[in-house]
Amino acid sequence: MDNIRIVGGKPLQGTVKISGAKNAALPILCAALLADGEHVFRNVPALRDIETTCALLEHLGVRCEVTPPIVKLHTRPSDVREAPYELVKQMRASVLVLGPLVAKYGEARVSLPGGCAIGARPIDQHLKGLELMGANILLEHGYVHASVPSGRLRGAEIVLDIPTVTGTENLMCAATLARGRTTLVNAAREPEVEELARVLNKMGANVTGAGTDVIVVEGVEGLQPVDHAIMPDRIEAGTYMVAAAATAGNVLCDGVSLDHLEALAAKLRKAGVILEREANGVRVIGRERYQAVDVTTAPHPGFPTDMQAQFMVLMCRASGRSVITETIFENRFMHVSELNRMGARIDVHGRMAAVNGVDSLQGAEVMATDLRASASLVIAGLFAEGTTDVLRVYHIDRGYEHIEAKFAGLGANIQRVRGHG
Ligand code: EPZ
Repeated sequence: MDNIRIVGGKPLQGTVKISGAKNAALPILCAALLADGEHVFRNVPALRDIETTCALLEHLGVRCEVTPPIVKLHTRPSDVREAPYELVKQMRASVLVLGPLVAKYGEARVSLPGGCAIGARPIDQHLKGLELMGANILLEHGYVHASVPSGRLRGAEIVLDIPTVTGTENLMCAATLARGRTTLVNAAREPEVEELARVLNKMGANVTGAGTDVIVVEGVEGLQPVDHAIMPDRIEAGTYMVAAAATAGNVLCDGVSLDHLEALAAKLRKAGVILEREANGVRVIGRERYQAVDVTTAPHPGFPTDMQAQFMVLMCRASGRSVITETIFENRFMHVSELNRMGARIDVHGRMAAVNGVDSLQGAEVMATDLRASASLVIAGLFAEGTTDVLRVYHIDRGYEHIEAKFAGLGANIQRVRGHG
């Protein structure tokens, strides 16, 4: 397993190009199952999760040409409707094939994703929606077996208990080919949900209200393949914005808009970070010390849980104490113990972490446990005194394209050290 080695202390300077959004690309690639023919997707990031998704689609009969930033998918009728455990266990987002398969074929067998480092992450809301649309759901031997006795889903009124992102995406896909109207109430409002709706409508679907908490889908008889360029990754962008601030740097994040990062931008500005909109992106100007700012994660448009770990690192450079509350996942503070080994002073009390600003962090060997925790450890290494080795970087490679090259391009002293085994 590879490590990333960083010698801290250099302010980041220059321009970083933001890649296509992982969490938009994953549901969009799975939605290609809905329409036979040749799909072309552009601005697709070179990530392990993209490779995993395409391996799953190949298993389901889709011919994939994966040459990032281009991914071509040739969907053909297939009698393979099972997403096996060995693929689903690598990436929970594999559950995103469930809605398209049930919509297209009236049946699917998908391995239950199981928990992951950050929480149990059940899919009960996905399954409740499919049942309301006429699917029989059977849970057996670790698999979800969904089947539609009538052969075709019917539109339904679905009120989600939680504004689940992939739950909204799965059910929106399922509804596109259902008979009649589906109304999704308490839907997730993330920009990636809106992007998926744009793609579905380009394929001939009839989806309205994406981006709000009520999405209406009028079922159609069939969909067409699509050519689409994926939106930029707002979480990747937010990660580089925080890194620029944490190193007291001056960085232009090229290709991202603050429109999808208003909650993060508000907290960064309150802490003392200067953010300037420029023609093709956002300029971030950092400083040595910040104001302590409290943050509570929430569904979009609230502060994104995927930025919680990164923002916590910035608060290590604040004067005073900030309280960070994680409301989305039950176990998303695993970066705390690693940061404390670098000299941070963070106390966790259930869903709340109290971050006491310190004068500096010390480089150390640290272990990543999930995608965003990994990124927060890299950011800490960028301004810590001395050398930091971030181990298990396969987590990072799932969601950050060429991360060491991008940081090196901003002047960081960073390299990938090839691991053994
Ligand atoms: C999506 O995960 C993202 N992944 C996550 O990003 C992100 O952290 C999360 O949304 C929240 O914004 C993708 O889009 C591929 P949820 P998802 O369903 O859809 C509970 C990253 O780092 N819940 O909105 O799995 C669940 O346990 C990843 O890129 C149920 O109880 O998240 C969680 O506590 C990490 N029942 C909360 O809702 C359900 O049926 C939010 O989960 C579904 C969810």
